[in-house]
Amino acid sequence: MVTEKPKIGNIKLNGWAVLAPMAGVSDLPYRVIAMNHGAAMTTTEMVSAKGLYFNNEKTKNMLKIHEGEHPVTIQLFGSDPDIMAFAAKEVQKVGADIVDINMGCPMHKIVRNGEGSALMKNVSLAADIVKSMVRAVSVPVTVKMRIGWDEKSINCIELAQAVEEAGAAAITVHGRTRSEMYMGHAHWDVIKRVVESVAIPVFGNGDVVDGISAKRLMEETGCAGIAIGRAAWGNPWIFRSVNAYLQDGSILSEPTAGEKLGMAELHLKGLVINKGEYVAVREMRAHASHYFRGLRKATELRRGIMKAQSEKEFIDLLHVYKKKYDL
Ligand SMILES: Cc1cc2nc3c(=O)[nH]c(=O)nc-3n(C[C@H](O)[C@H](O)[C@H](O)COP(=O)(O)O)c2cc1C
Repeated sequence: MVTEKPKIGNIKLNGWAVLAPMAGVSDLPYRVIAMNHGAAMTTTEMVSAKGLYFNNEKTKNMLKIHEGEHPVTIQLFGSDPDIMAFAAKEVQKVGADIVDINMGCPMHKIVRNGEGSALMKNVSLAADIVKSMVRAVSVPVTVKMRIGWDEKSINCIELAQAVEEAGAAAITVHGRTRSEMYMGHAHWDVIKRVVESVAIPVFGNGDVVDGISAKRLMEETGCAGIAIGRAAWGNPWIFRSVNAYLQDGSILSEPTAGEKLGMAELHLKGLVINKGEYVAVREMRAHASHYFRGLRKATELRRGIMKAQSEKEFIDLLHVYKKKYDL
């Protein structure tokens, strides 16, 4: 891979593949795990700017970052330029390297407030939000968008140029419309058109599942880097293997069953420290089934995990499974 590693403002990344923001997935322990496995940057789950403005404790907790976790982006969602500027300052205060604006979330409860991908329908407001945040902080402000609201309004080029003009330092484009949600294939050809229409770095996003697809996305679009979402859920090893493939075409072996179980245990322990045992055990149920993909008789393990009530019960189940299958 010969292209320069991407630079966002004055932050030079040490690779091309970053962890995409994922609500319910890119929590603090997972971000640290992803970074230790080669993610060039991580992004938090989306954080409500209004929640920060109104001093909501749960929202403020989402700003926690680990001291070894850099560069890290905190993503905000909101639609009021002043509140977004306030929230950006809070993000800067906690030591995040970059603040990102969510202009891609398709969920009804978000778009009905004019937030997330609804901002794609209001380009001048989107640009005002960027301007207001850029004025408020010295860290780079970036934008994550889709390609448009629906197939009749694919306006990502107009939006990309408007946010660039407003001072955004980089853009991530998920190659689907809001109407497409997560269905079908991401339109990489449209990402290419965005890359060609702005000077700031563009991160391509959508359907990267391994080194081969990562390289193809970079070659087909000319994007500066790639953001990996779903394929990284329960699979931090993807960063290591994408890096290896991009660097010299080598294909690394898949993680062993023992490594997958060990990683699930590590993630759980991190969640217990961060969110307490009750929440950790429940949140870990969703992550665990991703870690268990490809394991022999995984259904049996998943069933047990769904009923586990404590950290000990959870870990005991992992150990019993390991022993049973001699892992
Ligand atoms: C469970 C889940 C949660 C997500 N949460 C966010 C989010 O908080 N902010 C955001 O910008 N995108 C979010 N996304 C979208 C992803 O960042 C990414 O754009 C999308 O999944 C396409 O990339 P992929 O094909 O690599 O998964 C989420 C996606 C999933 C599956």
